Amino acid sequence: MKCRWSFLAAALLLTVLLSFPVAADSADVIIVGAGGAGLAAAIEAADQGVSVVVLEKMPMAGGNTLYATGGMNAAGTSSQETLGIEDSPAVHYKDTMQGGHDLNVPELVEIMTEQAPVAVEWLKGLGADLADVGRLGGSSVNRTHRPTGGQPVGPHLVQVMFEAAQTRGVDVRLENEVIEILLDDNGAAHGVVVENREGTYTITAKAIVVTTGGFGANPTMFVEYDPELEGFGTTNAPSATGDGITMLTALGADLIHMDQIQTHPTVHPGRSTMITEAVRGNGAIMVNRDGARFVNEMGTRDVVSGAILDQDGQSAYLFFDDAVRGSLAAVENYRRQGIVTEADTLEELANALGVDAAALTGAVEEYNAAVAAGSDDAFGRSDLPRSLDEAPFYAIEIGPAVHHTMGGVVINERTEVQSANGSIPGLFAAGEVTGGIHGGNRLGGNALADIIVFGRIAGQQAAQY
Ligand code: FUM
Repeated sequence: MKCRWSFLAAALLLTVLLSFPVAADSADVIIVGAGGAGLAAAIEAADQGVSVVVLEKMPMAGGNTLYATGGMNAAGTSSQETLGIEDSPAVHYKDTMQGGHDLNVPELVEIMTEQAPVAVEWLKGLGADLADVGRLGGSSVNRTHRPTGGQPVGPHLVQVMFEAAQTRGVDVRLENEVIEILLDDNGAAHGVVVENREGTYTITAKAIVVTTGGFGANPTMFVEYDPELEGFGTTNAPSATGDGITMLTALGADLIHMDQIQTHPTVHPGRSTMITEAVRGNGAIMVNRDGARFVNEMGTRDVVSGAILDQDGQSAYLFFDDAVRGSLAAVENYRRQGIVTEADTLEELANALGVDAAALTGAVEEYNAAVAAGSDDAFGRSDLPRSLDEAPFYAIEIGPAVHHTMGGVVINERTEVQSANGSIPGLFAAGEVTGGIHGGNRLGGNALADIIVFGRIAGQQAAQY
């Protein structure tokens, strides 16, 4: 009997011990946030032979990267070569600076554009499929890489990188939220305080990489920096609440471009579903409630968003045909969500939308003539990939929603977090938590280039530190 009681007591003690977090813990490198930048950093750090713990507040890895659809920009890749596309980091640099109104930090843009093709080959080496290459707004060349058939890129990359991190023994802890970053008496990164279901605990580390994302899902914060965004929806994952920016600011980190907040032009107003720019890149046009085109659909997001807000109802229709649908598997997701109006003829589609049929037919005919002539005199659209004449025809109502917060903490070329006293020792950051790379307007496809390139650098630097 006595023996049974001691067994029960021991079992109870073990259960209690197992269900509470270890009070103290340590790793060589801690990564805060398991989105694309965090996973890239984790893989690189692990490849340098250090122990890595990744802390993620959400119940799944991926963050905003899980929502990425259109692709990853890179110039001079093997995928482009296979498709006969001529491009270079220098042209990518020029497009990025122009798209960002030259507000971008040139040194960071240079690194991103030089390293993006290396990052694409690195992802392919991990098992990623980035064979399909299209174009998103503001780019002068087809350089946006995505999986074969135009599948959404983000979930694929998250799966590939999550598996690569696990294979390397990275300790990924989901639902473990970092609530404070600790510095030692010398002002160097020392550890983090973590909160989970059971309580709080501390982990110490030699280096910390912050990859918590931006603040596009925090309306209080984005309206504080840009009051004109009051009432706007968001394309962001609920995790993008700016926690990293808040924690790093408390340590004296400098901020840059906080008022530079981008809206994505084509978001379904009812469901907040982002309709990837790749639909336009593969040929779709936009028409207003009068059935008329009103803007170069492949302009930069600030320009296209502004043009939509100028239309009656502050929304418009994305219009495409069956050939565009067939070119991009992502479209099937929108059909499954029931947000696509479909019809066998232009007249039927116009009637379903409540748009003048003659006007819509005229706009489509005029656009098809521009495609045939290779010149869009009306709006100056330079990429005219296909005419829109294959029934059935499709339309999705769209309007702008907050998409990317270009501002964030200041980093240098080694991704070290900057303060008034220079780099904070042992503290690195990468991805949307940082600012300056995209200037006043990010080009579609450059977020993935940014997070993979600088995530990798942060992982390497933290491991070496
Ligand atoms: O439209 C899109 O697929 C968005 C891409 C991006 O923001 O990079």
